[in-house]
Amino acid sequence: MRRKGLFVVLEGIDGSGTTTIGKMLESELKQKNIRAHYTFEPTGGPVGSLIKNILSKRVVMNLKNGDSAVFDQKAVALLFAADRLDHIRNEIEPLVKDGFVVISDRYKFSSFAYQSIFADSEWVRDINRFAIEPDLLFFLDVDVKIGLKRVGKRGNVREIYEREELLKKVRTNYLSDIKKYRYSHIIDSNRTLDEVYLDIREILFKRLSAYGYKI
Ligand code: TMP
Repeated sequence: MRRKGLFVVLEGIDGSGTTTIGKMLESELKQKNIRAHYTFEPTGGPVGSLIKNILSKRVVMNLKNGDSAVFDQKAVALLFAADRLDHIRNEIEPLVKDGFVVISDRYKFSSFAYQSIFADSEWVRDINRFAIEPDLLFFLDVDVKIGLKRVGKRGNVREIYEREELLKKVRTNYLSDIKKYRYSHIIDSNRTLDEVYLDIREILFKRLSAYGYKI
């Protein structure tokens, strides 16, 4: 009898497909009667919702001279870290302990890649030091232009990081960071959704059976 579940993280620049793939994995695992839970960051909780509003510029600071300013990016880094700790304590850890396969669409590696552009990268790591390590990490590597094209098709309000120059730096940061972890896999995500999904699924299912899941 298994005692512990698995904590899986999907990362990538905007438009890399983490949300679609995460939901597909959850759905297939559930069909196979494996307890699975898809979750995401920034979360839908109070801090995560505040972050979403900052990213879409719905929250701005009104200055005394009548101008408005966007939120300070170091403060945003702290909000991401706070949202994450709450996410881990109240959602991820209890479910993993209970035997669930928890799939998180973004995690601390997003902070390392995005917030390190605006703040000292060691500081960004430091404020995330209580974030537990995942069992598996997939980096969905997509060309910035392709990612932005996919984001554009969604027709949502443009968020502050959805810019080509910035996402190029984010991708570079991701690539140099992700290679450091023994549990990470880089997945070519310029291909069709099905091709990307099958690659990830194969690695995940292998791990699950090695872990004692009946799959
Ligand atoms: P989403 O588009 O996956 O909902 O994520 C919203 C944006 O937040 C996306 O541009 C990536 C960014 N982000 C960070 O900058 N740092 C983080 O720690 C996380 C989780 C997301």
